[in-house]
Amino acid sequence: MEIKNVSVIGGGTMGNGIAHVFALKDFNVNLVEMTSDLADKALATISKNLDRQVKKGTISETEKSRAFSNIKKVIGVNNTPSDSDLVIEAIYENKEAKMDIFKELQNRVKNNSIFASNTSSISITELAAQTRPEQFIGMHFMNPVPMMQLVEIIRGYSTSNETFETIKSLAIQLDKTPVEVFDYPGFISNRILMPMINEAIFALMEGVASAQDIDTVMKLGMNHPMGPLTLADFIGLDVCLAIMEVLYNGFNDSKYRPCPLLKKMVAAKKLGKKTGEGFFKYQ
Ligand code: NAI
Repeated sequence: MEIKNVSVIGGGTMGNGIAHVFALKDFNVNLVEMTSDLADKALATISKNLDRQVKKGTISETEKSRAFSNIKKVIGVNNTPSDSDLVIEAIYENKEAKMDIFKELQNRVKNNSIFASNTSSISITELAAQTRPEQFIGMHFMNPVPMMQLVEIIRGYSTSNETFETIKSLAIQLDKTPVEVFDYPGFISNRILMPMINEAIFALMEGVASAQDIDTVMKLGMNHPMGPLTLADFIGLDVCLAIMEVLYNGFNDSKYRPCPLLKKMVAAKKLGKKTGEGFFKYQ
């Protein structure tokens, strides 16, 4: 199936990045937000990020203008164009809210289109069951979308091979590297990353080393670009806790229990960079 018209629901951190990469490759992009102000904010972010690419010399001024003109703002999910070939949902991480979006889209958007979710932890199979299971898939981009190479492509229980192959070649068209993943809690990225971060927090709680030293070990010893505690601060400790809970509840296995120090810091609203303090302090 040829994909030309793409609707992105939600223009936040991930949604505006997803719209950005599709627009640069000349897809017709509908950026769907709740209000006109939020849509304008998303467009302003895209414009700023495209400018940055122009300054770096990775795209030309003409490519920037063309990409920007490929994006149309749409207000309200109920106005999502019915001729969308692909709809990618990127609203906040809440199962019920996402399900409501897909129920609304099911009646609105033409029958042969594909629905995708950018969720980082909610079951693709469960979301798919609300709508069109064979034409439903996880398309998990990484942040920041224009820079990061990986897209995890998650097959729900009933995702068809045709849907998978269409989305895989689409990711390649976007100059990304797709990886096929089956639907289990945390997929691959968060199933491996979050327990590592959680273990670093256990090490800190037990006094094995200081926060700075734990990060230094992983940076200098394992060549990680960022230590796990700094990374947790950047992701947000509330997000880390929510994903650990998805792993813990999804597998019913104590090896995924969230560290009590992580829970305590979230309760104290020390959520990392966004609140000015997590394992480290930020200006
Ligand atoms: P965000 O909070 O930055 O953006 C969500 C956007 O959705 C907001 O702009 C909001 O106005 C909009 N929205 C909410 N309800 C809507 C509705 N009914 N109709 C239209 N727009 C609506 O969230 P973020 O960080 O972009 O996350 C989006 C999804 O991507 C989540 O599922 C998250 O788990 C996932 N994700 C996030 C990553 C990250 O690093 N932030 C990385 C990979 C996945």
